[in-house]
Amino acid sequence: MKRDLFSGSLACLAPLAGYSDAPLRLIAAECGADFAFTGLVSADGLVRGGAGSAALMGRLAGEAPLGVQIFGAAPDHLGRAAAIAAGSGADFIDLNFGCPVKKVIRRNGGVSIMRDLDLMERIVRAVVASVDLPVTAKIRSGWSDEERNFIEAGRLLESCGAAAVTLHPRPRSQGFSGSAHWEDIAALRAELAIPVIANGDIRTLADHAEVTRLTGCAIAMIGRGALGNPWIFREIKDAARGRPPRETGIDERLDTIERHLALMVDFFGEDRGVREMRKFYRWYLRSFDDIRKYRAALVIAPRARDVAALVAAMREELRGNGRSEAQEAS
Ligand SMILES: Cc1cc2nc3c(=O)[nH]c(=O)nc-3n(C[C@H](O)[C@H](O)[C@H](O)COP(=O)(O)O)c2cc1C
Repeated sequence: MKRDLFSGSLACLAPLAGYSDAPLRLIAAECGADFAFTGLVSADGLVRGGAGSAALMGRLAGEAPLGVQIFGAAPDHLGRAAAIAAGSGADFIDLNFGCPVKKVIRRNGGVSIMRDLDLMERIVRAVVASVDLPVTAKIRSGWSDEERNFIEAGRLLESCGAAAVTLHPRPRSQGFSGSAHWEDIAALRAELAIPVIANGDIRTLADHAEVTRLTGCAIAMIGRGALGNPWIFREIKDAARGRPPRETGIDERLDTIERHLALMVDFFGEDRGVREMRKFYRWYLRSFDDIRKYRAALVIAPRARDVAALVAAMREELRGNGRSEAQEAS
């Protein structure tokens, strides 16, 4: 029962703090993502009863199975936080051992735990003992090029009862720059019996085919590649079923912006929903040179109806420029 969630899955939406809230997760699910994650949720915050931390676990009907990703450094807090997340309806618990952000490292959380595998062991055991849900973990290659211990960490996670491990194959010192080292994922997969989820720089169907070929991993985790392009999940599913790729038409893109905004407003309320949506426009409009000028207006539009008017104007302009529905902009 513990591993059912992961068998047969092809692709999931990555934990993306500030982005992978319920609206994006629902859109990803509608495009074919098999499961998704919250962004980082502080275990200490959950245990303290912080409303902000609890709100990060909010969901919309129709989402795919959800992993609540918790971080912290105190095993008992992580165990208690996992139980709280389970009580709020999480489908599985994901442990963050990869975050390189200073605020998290300063509290000895995230990737700093890769430097203390004894602590990692105590955390995983505490969490596995406290919930009756699958427990997964997300790791990096290590702290630095000199401290690349993902194989040791992966073996430890497996022996402590983790149901799957995601590897973002960059050491902390590399941040998000340079290329992801997919060969590290292949090496980890060769070591473990539990599923290894491949992550890092999977932006296109061709990237997905290549990472799958190189690593043999059945499941890919997609982060930035899904921003403004949730259809990557549909492409992966279609390819796996031997179906020809479907183009994403301009109208479908603009419809998705409208739907995403409507979900944001539904989930956060209009003021916050409109504000939080602003960071998505550059991703959705990335490849539309002829309407780039609308971005500046979109990110200051105060109300949902102002955004709707701008989307209508973009539609008109694109049609006027002779773009047909089926044409892809990129
Ligand atoms: C804006 C942003 C927020 C992120 N937030 C989280 C997070 O909360 N938890 C986490 O494990 N990783 C987080 N990540 C890392 C991603 O999950 C992923 O590992 C990384 O971006 C590499 O995958 P990608 O190339 O598909 O984006 C974040 C990345 C970005 C760009």
